[in-house]
Amino acid sequence: MKVAYKVPFVDPRAHYQRWREEIDGAIHACLSRGDLVSRQQLRDFEAHLAEFVGTRLAVGLNSGFHALHFALIASGVGRGDEVITVAHTFVATISAIVHTGATPVLIDVGRDYTMDMDALERAITPRTRGVIPVHLNGRLCDMGRLMTIAERHGLPVIEDAAQALGGTYRGRRAGSFGLAGCFSHYPFKILGGFGDGGSLTTNDPEVARKAALLRYNGEDRETGEYHYHGYTALLDNVQAAVLDVKLSHLLGWIERRRTIAGLYRERLVGIPDLVLPHFEGAEYHDTYQNYVVRSRRRDALAAFLRDRGVETLIHWPKPVWQHRALRLGDWHLPETEAICREVLSLPMSTETTEEQVRYVADCAREFFGA
Ligand SMILES: Cc1ncc(COP(=O)(O)O)c(C=O)c1O
Repeated sequence: MKVAYKVPFVDPRAHYQRWREEIDGAIHACLSRGDLVSRQQLRDFEAHLAEFVGTRLAVGLNSGFHALHFALIASGVGRGDEVITVAHTFVATISAIVHTGATPVLIDVGRDYTMDMDALERAITPRTRGVIPVHLNGRLCDMGRLMTIAERHGLPVIEDAAQALGGTYRGRRAGSFGLAGCFSHYPFKILGGFGDGGSLTTNDPEVARKAALLRYNGEDRETGEYHYHGYTALLDNVQAAVLDVKLSHLLGWIERRRTIAGLYRERLVGIPDLVLPHFEGAEYHDTYQNYVVRSRRRDALAAFLRDRGVETLIHWPKPVWQHRALRLGDWHLPETEAICREVLSLPMSTETTEEQVRYVADCAREFFGA
């Protein structure tokens, strides 16, 4: 049954109404000129995205999944290789590794939901050929330590920055540290389109060239030569035009999310058995793609909020390796397992209002009797 929520998790209709004039203008310009496939709007978006992230190049794709997949292919990973990543991520991170023929090696995360760097050191073997740090919920991994470890072992780093566009570590943006940065423009991401979309950032012209060929069935569009058996994975031109408009507002939207997060904190701090996502470290600037709280009474809290008209989500309720059909093997990762039982994502978007946050927080306080 579809519930009419008093506080929806996100509000795409309100978002469109707020930015309608600019968005309609961009779409109209494409449609009236017939600019549908790989036109100037795509090139403009790629140039602006690369500039924003701080890389030389960006390649527009149809998903974050393919950004990861093509980055791995470009890094040379294949059958017989191992690639290390975290188990606490969206399944696409892991599927991208599987689709190259390599074996995913899953490790645990720390209290801030990002890669445990001690676990990374322990997981490296002579077969390791890459590492994918996942910057989850808008927070970067400890990229200082990760880059040191990766350089020591000569491992390519492919950043899963699907949830962290605009987030920084020591002033550098997600997607600018490794061989490639991989972003998702799925509608509810911080820079979301009107359907699937993604992009890859890199300083390496060969990586960009390969991704640009793979997205177009392997074809070099200038010469007509097919260089690979590729994929149909181009970012639609209309989507690129819309994303380009939205990119110009991104810094403001990040600050808005940080304000909402601050308000949640003000209202929810001090409740025993409710852990809030405000972590240590002056070197981090988190974007709050998701506002994830943690409680041992998570399921009851989610039901209580739902009854009061508050929509929440769980990212994710079951450890990925326990989906047997994926054949990922058996892992024992205590933090990931506890997270699956305890996390709850509260409503969070640029359209979330102060009044809504107050309401959600009041409901949560009522639940905990605080
Ligand atoms: C952490 C993470 N990695 C990868 C992806 C895959 O992105 P997409 O859905 O655009 O393929 C997502 C998006 O949901 C994500 O959250």
